Amino acid sequence: MGAVKRSLYESQDEILEAIRALHVPEGFEADLTFGNGGFWRTQPRPRLCFDATPLAAGVVEADSRLLPLEPSSIGSAVFDPPFLTYVRGGREHKDGKVAMTARFGGYWSLSELEDHYRETISECWRVLRPGGVLVFKCQDIVHNHRLEAVHAHVLMMADAEGFDLLDLFVLAARHRMPGPQKGTQRHARVFHSYFLVFRKPTAKQRGRRAA
Ligand SMILES: C[S@@+](CC[C@H](N)C(=O)[O-])C[C@H]1O[C@@H](n2cnc3c(N)ncnc32)[C@H](O)[C@@H]1O
Repeated sequence: MGAVKRSLYESQDEILEAIRALHVPEGFEADLTFGNGGFWRTQPRPRLCFDATPLAAGVVEADSRLLPLEPSSIGSAVFDPPFLTYVRGGREHKDGKVAMTARFGGYWSLSELEDHYRETISECWRVLRPGGVLVFKCQDIVHNHRLEAVHAHVLMMADAEGFDLLDLFVLAARHRMPGPQKGTQRHARVFHSYFLVFRKPTAKQRGRRAA
């Protein structure tokens, strides 16, 4: 029997391993935001890998809000979207390729971030089979001098779509150096992120939830 899985780790490899062991024993089927493939250093690479700006071989160009997948066709998906706001770069670059990369590295407004997250949650509801699992990595941010508990927004969006929360993991930053503080510090610097694990319930599971 393996080690007991915990809610807190300092390595995302360990979190992905815990999620696989507890909730996706057959292995992850799709990565919607593959990036450099950093999630798959110790886990088998999913069969389906997508990104709006593919950087690696075998990654299919696709928007996470409009996946080239049939309804109810996959058993699990991992989503690790950008989390920064006030990223203006993409709007200023002229070169299409660079613009895409810079553009998708973040959002300008909080509502843009939330629209992307909400629309992807809906798309995951469409493509996941009942009983299927969505792993959503996110991070709280300070936007316009306000602390935004983005993970709580994601919990509400997923709940509104009909997903059940199966698990919540916190990834503590091990090596991050706090950058310099400009002006007065008003909020703790965010040194953790979340891996939220949701399930699209089967009809039977939905009945149990309502009871
Ligand atoms: C935080 S990075 C993912 C990092 C990845 N998990 C890794 O370990 O390398 C976010 C990724 O989301 C992609 N992205 C941004 N907007 C997207 C969209 N609408 N659809 C699909 N991918 C998108 C970006 O191109 C970027 O590769």
